Amino acid sequence: MKLVLNLLGFVFVVGVCTAEPPISQPHWNDQNQNGKKEVYQDPRQPIEKRVEDLLGRMTLEEKIGQLVQIEAKPDMANSQDEFLRQGRIGSLLGSQAIEKPGLLNRLQRISVEESRLGIPLIIGHDTIHGFRTIFPIPLAQACAWEPALFERTQTISARESAAVGIHWAFAPMVDLARDPRWGRIAEGFGEDPWLGSLDTAACVRGFQGTNTADPDRLVACLKHYVGYGAAEGGRDYNTTEISEYTLRNFYLPQFKAGVAAGAGTVMSGFNLLSAAPASANHHTLTEILRGEWKFQGFVVSDWGSVQELIAHGVAADGAEAARLALTAGVDMEMLSTNYRATLGRQVKDGKVKVTVIDEAVRRVLRVKFAKGLFEKPYVDENMCHHAFLKPDALALAREAAANSCVLLKNNNHLLPLSRRIKSFALIGPFADDGRNLLGCWSGRGRAEDTVSLATGLGAKLAPGVALTVVRGCEPAEGWQLIPQLDGTKIFEHHASSGHESDIPKAVAAARAADIIIMALGEPASWSGEDSARSDLGLPGHQNELFDAVAALGKPVIVVLINGRPLALPHLQEKAAAILEAWNPGAQGGNGVADILFGDVAPAGRLTASFPRSVGQVPVYYNHYNTGRPNLGQYVDGPREALYPFGFGLTYTTFEYGHVALSANQLNVDGTMTARVRIKNTGSRPGAEVVQLYIRDLAGSAGPHPVRELKGFQKVQMNPGDSQELAFTISERELGYYDVNGQWLVEPGRFQLWLAKDSASGDPVAFEMMEARNSVQAQH
Ligand code: BGC
Repeated sequence: MKLVLNLLGFVFVVGVCTAEPPISQPHWNDQNQNGKKEVYQDPRQPIEKRVEDLLGRMTLEEKIGQLVQIEAKPDMANSQDEFLRQGRIGSLLGSQAIEKPGLLNRLQRISVEESRLGIPLIIGHDTIHGFRTIFPIPLAQACAWEPALFERTQTISARESAAVGIHWAFAPMVDLARDPRWGRIAEGFGEDPWLGSLDTAACVRGFQGTNTADPDRLVACLKHYVGYGAAEGGRDYNTTEISEYTLRNFYLPQFKAGVAAGAGTVMSGFNLLSAAPASANHHTLTEILRGEWKFQGFVVSDWGSVQELIAHGVAADGAEAARLALTAGVDMEMLSTNYRATLGRQVKDGKVKVTVIDEAVRRVLRVKFAKGLFEKPYVDENMCHHAFLKPDALALAREAAANSCVLLKNNNHLLPLSRRIKSFALIGPFADDGRNLLGCWSGRGRAEDTVSLATGLGAKLAPGVALTVVRGCEPAEGWQLIPQLDGTKIFEHHASSGHESDIPKAVAAARAADIIIMALGEPASWSGEDSARSDLGLPGHQNELFDAVAALGKPVIVVLINGRPLALPHLQEKAAAILEAWNPGAQGGNGVADILFGDVAPAGRLTASFPRSVGQVPVYYNHYNTGRPNLGQYVDGPREALYPFGFGLTYTTFEYGHVALSANQLNVDGTMTARVRIKNTGSRPGAEVVQLYIRDLAGSAGPHPVRELKGFQKVQMNPGDSQELAFTISERELGYYDVNGQWLVEPGRFQLWLAKDSASGDPVAFEMMEARNSVQAQH
């Protein structure tokens, strides 16, 4: 896909290059005739004043230039220099030129020192879950139920990225996802908008800090606005049909939370959203984002998504695509160059108002000033490599890997592993693998910097303890998406590699070992962009491998390495223990070993439901009720998820007392408290995530899901300890959005749960008294 777009982009650039003569303008001096800095060059001036001053000096071509983002390529030699000199490129996308601060500085120098107004470039990159120190994929980190973890990991991601000259992260991806076939579910937070909103805000804080001008920070980008995760069939880039009501209550809240947290930019999506492309959607990009939420930053398109308006069938040519996207509210065009090629002419022809361009330029400049680029445009080329893989980053990567793990099954307390065990067999395609632990969008992470499961486990073993590692089979057979150096992926067919023959070797190792651990899952390249699956089982010969080992009748512990919820009822039935480790990142092996040996108690809980079969998809906890809630079953299997949202075990057990409410009636502007006593009834210390769910039984603007997460507390308790937890409930937990984005809090009957996951616990009832039309709150 990208390859095609790349080519299109390239053809376009060449076309523009030959079609439009260079503009010759007098060079604008750094200082005016009195030797003073101009207003826009003076950091003591307020940003808005600097923006207006600069805007007032710009030619139309220079203005349009600020709305152009092209890819910086190592081999781009001097092909774009003239455009830079003319101020006709506003931003670079750094994917291939990253870790080449010299190149980025060279290009920046042309913009700053050789262009008329010296406007610096803003350089963006896909720093998603780490740059060189790779943390667990976002879906995994979300399972820690610890938004502060995101703040910490993204702080390190920003630090490492900034060291090579990146100013801007194309993250966080805040798309709600209910369909594990969609490969990009790995990049987000799962299926809950409430928890997703906390995670979004935490990521923004992590990237931007309190001042984005801090050289160690990046501007954040909320993507992909909006609805992209609802792709039909889970196929990437596919059509989405979302009602305004569902959009408001499920898909928009994370974006709203990110805007409220101060995110500098937003990326418009690839998808058709209810028949209007997300990258030409005036309703979402202007009415909601700017009108309702007062977003002051800029919107960048996704990779070629302006050009794709033609393929979507809403624009006849590049000029129309540019006009539709810009007037809808897409300020900067990524990769394709329809803005640069056509907007000048369209303004002259009266088809696009210059005021629309001015407004887009203002937004871009605002972010550039706020990032401090005019004061510090360059990166220190010598320092960058000292910033990578620092001890604090590695320690955090290990902590994050452990905290992201979700224990799905643990028969007879098989885990944690005893230190008295004398021999281990570690079997499976991910047993001694670095690359697949990193997951999709792994920045500049390297397999050789990654602690594999074999290494992590080995480090825990006393001298004399045997660890036999057997791969057993390849992660997948047949067609595979293979990432290319230029960032594209191509399908390659891999004929059966004959690795099934390792299965007997695996069985022999398992037979000889006291404990069998199997590392199963899916290749990292099977999740992320354009990596949808139509089956959610273990690919290749992994089931055969598992069955052969399980046939020995010895307990098998499975560690899952994957980027999406899988449908694994077979493992649930046959394995003795299952630990969902996801793509756990550069310290994955250490983090997982910490969990397996009980040095860290598993505290992760799922943020996306695991189906039993692909036919159940989408299966998510916060669905609306039907008119016949007891009917609508499948004739050939249950309809409930195999592991529901919120589910996860630990090495001890917790008992919940009755839920008590401070009152069973509440005024709309009042508060009440829900209390529950929980007790650690097992024999080990452990962490429990107590989850608050609410259901509003009737809404005037629309229905409410059967349960909605509205709070949680993560508590660490020793064996025998008991503790009463209190949750305050107010209109923040009880309201919802109508189709106009109004926050409504309505009288009526509600149910409340304090439970260990979205499928357990008994509800208590209460009533909201007194009508109030609409409570405008900060949501
Ligand atoms: C992806 C975005 C990404 C962009 C830049 C696109 O293909 O959808 O998430 O930020 O490329 O690499």
